[in-house]
Amino acid sequence: MLKAENLRYVYTSGLIKTIKKTAVYGVGLEVCPGETVAIVGESGCGKSTLAKMLVQQLAPVSGEVFFDGAKLTGMNWNNLRKFMGKIQLIPQNPDDVVDPRWTVERSVAEPLVICGVFSKEEISANVDALFAEVGLSAEHKTRYPHELSGGELQRIVIARALALEPELLVCDEATSMLDVSVQAFIVTMLKEIQKRRGLSLVFITHDLEAAKAISDRVLVMYAGEIVEEGNDVFDRPLHPYTRALLDAARYMSLEVVVSEEVGELSDGFSGCSYYRLCREKTDACKKPQKLRDVSGRLVRCWKSKYAVQKLS
Ligand SMILES: Nc1ncnc2c1ncn2[C@@H]1O[C@H](COP(=O)(O)OP(=O)(O)OP(=O)(O)O)[C@@H](O)[C@H]1O
Ligand code: SF4
Ligand SMILES: [Mg+2]
Repeated sequence: MLKAENLRYVYTSGLIKTIKKTAVYGVGLEVCPGETVAIVGESGCGKSTLAKMLVQQLAPVSGEVFFDGAKLTGMNWNNLRKFMGKIQLIPQNPDDVVDPRWTVERSVAEPLVICGVFSKEEISANVDALFAEVGLSAEHKTRYPHELSGGELQRIVIARALALEPELLVCDEATSMLDVSVQAFIVTMLKEIQKRRGLSLVFITHDLEAAKAISDRVLVMYAGEIVEEGNDVFDRPLHPYTRALLDAARYMSLEVVVSEEVGELSDGFSGCSYYRLCREKTDACKKPQKLRDVSGRLVRCWKSKYAVQKLS
């Protein structure tokens, strides 16, 4: 369904002196129909940049994104818009998609209005059905975003994303601004919607428990790269960074493993991206590390074949 190959993104900033920041290095991923893929990793590792490239909000510096075999990267806008309803982004911050000056009914209806093929009556019936699907009543329709709770507003964002009957939802920290009980409610609701509609999900999160609960497969990102990928990553972590993430989540918070070096490999060092923090490093780690298949798991660490032997 969705396939991304070798995606790379570089931000450029600064007026007098141009500063380049590579946020995503050569990331590839595949999402199958009905599958949920979770992407986890600490703040600044490139998750949102990757999400924006998947939904074509950012054009990669190199690499390609395919949907149902069609190459989206580089496609002209007229052709691309036919696909854009099929892939929808649910951002962390509802303000990114919901206009504070509009009633939430208008925000949910907007994608249907823009696509220009529905009558007023059809749009109205669709909007009613979308409100019902996310558990909001007709009474909510005429409210403005500031008149809703955080959880209700996130449900508006989901209703809007569902309007054009997408096949894939990319949820970028879609619940992280909500309190824990509301987070659980939204995750359960997304799972139900997924089942009912047969959707695929890319679920980006800091919450390792949520990632484990919701996903069929997990991708662990560090410093712009995928360092580990598999379907039982949290039960049998093979990469030292995945183990550090799990320890941090268990004993404190994810922030504990945030490094001052995250995302910065531009000082000429071409070895393992986790070299500076890794407690298991040796001189052999100064060589570039490729993702290698270790008993069905993809791991970017030459030592992982020994780690799997220890576990078995
Ligand atoms: N517009 C920008 N200009 C320059 N650098 C940027 C820009 N947006 C993001 N970055 C940098 O790119 C890197 C990746 O950012 P990104 O937002 O993708 O991370 P993230 O994993 O989504 O983090 P978080 O979990 O905090 O949302 C970070 O180092 C960030 O500072
Ligand atoms: S390659 Fe070396 S530095 Fe990198 S994660 Fe593996 S052991 Fe650590
Ligand atoms: Mg982000």
